[in-house]
This record gives sequence, C-alpha cells and structure tokens, in this order.
Amino acid sequence: AQQYENILVETRGRVGLVTLNRPQALNALNKATMEEIVAATAAMDADPAVGAVVITGSEKAFAAGADIKEMSSKGYMDMYAEDWFRGWESLTRLRIPVVAAVSGFALGGGCELAMMCDVIIAGDNAKFGQPEINLGVIPGMGGSQRLTHAVGKAKAMDMVLTGRMMDAAEAERAGLVSRVVPAASVVEEALKAAEVIASKSKPAAMLAKEAVNAAFELGLAQGVLFERRVFHSLFATEDQKEGMAAFSEKRQPEFKHR
Ligand code: CAA
Repeated sequence: AQQYENILVETRGRVGLVTLNRPQALNALNKATMEEIVAATAAMDADPAVGAVVITGSEKAFAAGADIKEMSSKGYMDMYAEDWFRGWESLTRLRIPVVAAVSGFALGGGCELAMMCDVIIAGDNAKFGQPEINLGVIPGMGGSQRLTHAVGKAKAMDMVLTGRMMDAAEAERAGLVSRVVPAASVVEEALKAAEVIASKSKPAAMLAKEAVNAAFELGLAQGVLFERRVFHSLFATEDQKEGMAAFSEKRQPEFKHR
C-alpha cells in the first residue's frame, strides 16, 4: 500500500476511510495533503472492492482551512501560475459516493472540503465557517458557490462576509449537513452510512450521485430529462432485475455489481 505523510488510509469492509492527520496544524490543507487526499480517493474510486469513501479529521478539527502559512508569502503570479486549489477538482469528479465525518472545526478550506463530499455527517461539536474575510481574502475552494447552493444567499452572505462560525444545530437547520450525531460517534455513524451506500448496486449509487449533482448544473427540464434517461439506462443492469425480483420474492437483494 502507498505511504502517505498527512493522511491515514484504511479500508473497512467496502468503505475506504481517509483520516486527515496533521494534528499540529489542525489538519490545515497544504498542497501535499490535497495531493494525498486526491491520490488516495482516486485509488479507492478505481477499486472494485470499494463502494464508498469516508473522509474525516480529528475530534478537534475536521480541517481548519487551507494552510495559511504555506500561502502567506505568495503573490498573484504564484497563485495563478500554479492554479492554486485546482487540484481539488479531482475530488469532485469521483464517481463513488463520499461521506464527510465532521468533528470540530471545518473552517475555510475545511468547510469547502466537506461541501465537496456528497453526504456530511456532523458531530454536535462541529463548527463550520468561511473566515477567509478575516485574512483579507475570500473562499477559494468553492465556498462562495457551494455554500450558497447549500444554504441560500441569506446565510451564505452572512457567513462569507462576517466570517462567523455556524454550530452543528444551525448547520443542520440551514441544510448544510445531512445529519448531526453525538461527537464521539461521528466516524462510526459515517462509516455505517457509507457501508449502507456501498451495499447497494454500485452503478445505481454512482448514477444517483451523478443525477443529484446534475441538479446544480442543469435547469429543471434538462435535469429531469437527464434523470429519466439515466433511470431508463439502469434497466440494462442485472442489479435492476435482481432488485425488483427480490422485492417481489420478499427477500433482500444480492446485487452483483457492488
Ligand atoms: N493554516 C495553517 N496553520 C493553521 C491553520 C491554518 N488554516 N489553522 C490552525 N493552524 C495551526 C496554528 O497556527 C497552530 O500552529 P502553532 O502551534 O505552530 O502556532 C496550530 O494549528 C493550532 O492552532 P491554534 O493554536 O490557533 O488553535 P486554537 O484552538 O487556539 O484555534 C482555530 C483554533 C480557531 C481553528 C484557529 O486555529 C484558526 O482560526 N485557524 C485558522 C482558520 C482560518 O482562517 N481558516 C481559513 C484558512 S484560508 C482558506 O481556507 C482559503 C480557502 O478558501 C481554501
């Protein structure tokens, strides 16, 4: 297995688990960490034995943002020439579902990383925020866009302009997170959710993810048409036959393509 410096990687059943491991920097996302997350999750995406991924941090911090110390002395041409943060786009192109297990701080790039995931399970100690305004900049990993999609203009403007944090209860009310669970069990609950996802027909799960994501890119009529065409296409799979037969026979389905 490949060795990483900033993350821990393991497989639990059909779920790949990535744990950010830079405790000395509250899991600040430097370039090396981004590259490791992208490489590890891409390998999981390509592994037929893996059906879902969980990304988590520590109890104190999911991630406290992009690494401020790594960026502070850079100039415009450095950022532009390196197309800083572009590497994260690879994470958003994974086909298998990704669950974020968020405990503690999810700030700046940490909040943005969580929002790149498909499901966010938050501990009741989670704190979300886009504090870049306090550093004289703005979100750079998609926060101004994904947060606005997730919680609407009113909350997004509040968060991005004041830099204040949202606690887990407010994040759930606002629709930023999927579920809130006790902080001590956030990884366990995320692994359970991911295992449920990974037990489904893999093509169905991947296409379900693609269809929901299409809602952020397409107009309603185009999106509904995309969904219907994909729905039709799933009738070419053995798993559709098995899933529907199992329902009629009152038994659990045994999906072939997992
Ligand atoms: N980058 C680099 N180092 C960071 C960091 C970050 N984003 N966040 C925390 N650290 C480091 C601290 O510098 C400190 O290191 P030292 O011990 O060497 O000084 C260590 O992690 C522990 O942090 P604190 O002592 O600050 O811990 P705390 O409990 O007192 O405070 C906190 C916690 C409120 C999260 C505070 O660390 C903080 O405000 N962090 C920065 C949050 C932030 O501004 N994030 C946005 C970054 S910019 C960005 O993300 C751009 C983008 O859109 C992608």
